[in-house]
Amino acid sequence: MPYTFTRSQALFTRAQRSIAAGVNSGIRKLEAPVPLYFDRGSGPNLWDVDGNHYLDFQLGQGALFYGHAPAGMADALAAQARRGTHWAAQCELEIEVAERLQAMIPAAELVRFSNSATEVVLTAFRLARAHTGRKRILRFEGHYHGWADEGLVGFANPADRWGDDEHPARTHPSQGVIPEVLEQFVVARWNDPAHLRRVVDQHRGQLAAIIFEPALCNTGCLEPVPGLMGTIRELCDRDGMLMISDETITGFRFGAGGAQGYYGYRPDLTVLGKAIGGGTPFAALAGTRAAMAKILSGEVIHAGTLNGNPLCLAASRWCLDEVARLGAAHPAGIQRLGQRLMAGLAELGRAHGVPLRPQGPGLIFHTVLLKPGAAEGAVRDYRDYVQRHDAPRWAHLRRCLLEEGVRAIERGLWSISLAHGEADIDEALARAARAFPRHAAQWAPPAARG
Ligand SMILES: Cc1ncc(COP(=O)(O)O)c(C=O)c1O
Repeated sequence: MPYTFTRSQALFTRAQRSIAAGVNSGIRKLEAPVPLYFDRGSGPNLWDVDGNHYLDFQLGQGALFYGHAPAGMADALAAQARRGTHWAAQCELEIEVAERLQAMIPAAELVRFSNSATEVVLTAFRLARAHTGRKRILRFEGHYHGWADEGLVGFANPADRWGDDEHPARTHPSQGVIPEVLEQFVVARWNDPAHLRRVVDQHRGQLAAIIFEPALCNTGCLEPVPGLMGTIRELCDRDGMLMISDETITGFRFGAGGAQGYYGYRPDLTVLGKAIGGGTPFAALAGTRAAMAKILSGEVIHAGTLNGNPLCLAASRWCLDEVARLGAAHPAGIQRLGQRLMAGLAELGRAHGVPLRPQGPGLIFHTVLLKPGAAEGAVRDYRDYVQRHDAPRWAHLRRCLLEEGVRAIERGLWSISLAHGEADIDEALARAARAFPRHAAQWAPPAARG
């Protein structure tokens, strides 16, 4: 029997009377049939208030890289809570976390701690502008860099306003944004090094930095084409721009050294979030000594009451030790599991006539669902994704999977945690085998519905 969500529905109805729109982050409304209310989690398992059990691949939007409620982290948090939850001052723990980051990430010569990656991105932009004396930041269409005014320019350009291929628009998905902010960004298409060169040349002398998600996880899961990272590094060196690697998703997941270790490049600044805190509100800016110079001198302000919060630090030290303990076996272990899951889902797609094309390096991947008549082959960039991925159909399949106890990220991303094992992948595929025929039988494109 597919799951039912009576208690979540009742709580959501009640929440809407006190919490604006019933949720505390807009994206959570995407969960269908209703934003779920959870009771507890353990490893890869999650239980909602209706008693439904999920194998979780949503994982707190990827932050729960160590699974739900790992005992070691719970102990570390409890021990720290008894000593103090907040000092707004120094403690030895912060040096211990910083030293671990230095040991894991060669480009992390110095670090600063914050509470969200959104804030860290803003610090990186401020630093890059101060470092170069230039205003503009180059970013890529479809890349997400937090929800602030500056993080979302050009993230989700609507197809009817996205400009020609050579000049992507800088639209903003939110109202209330300072209009002048848009002018401080130059938007390029992802995965086209020749195009990137032309865009940089066109704005030469104006650009402070290039920021990117090294694998574009927020729009599909689009790995960089060969040569792209080298081109970004070369252009940054040539023009004195800072290379900002936003590793909020890829950090620690792609190995102890993150995506920069996995793909082999060295950025000037790195944004770390999610897995660095394992589900606590913790994030970090890591950089070379040269790129961090204006923070060292105090000419760039970076502040925050809760920065370097000891609870977050205690959790983070535990998380980083877990990653370090895996040594060279990471990320191959989670990659193998993810690739098995990708292959199994693709096979179910073939068996039930569902055009599912899982894409990504396995340790994280996206389930692209082709629109009718769409071309085959790997999705390459944001425009290609919008044109070929059938988002309404994915939403239907996702709901069928959820009703059988398999939970992926709302937009189609799947994360593997260190808590998942072979048996969890088997179980997820057995459950998915019930969801696919139901989806295939029920799915009708919006236009075909009565
Ligand atoms: C690549 C990337 N950068 C920045 C952010 C913002 O992180 P936070 O939600 O912690 O502010 C996110 C969040 O999903 C992200 O995926």
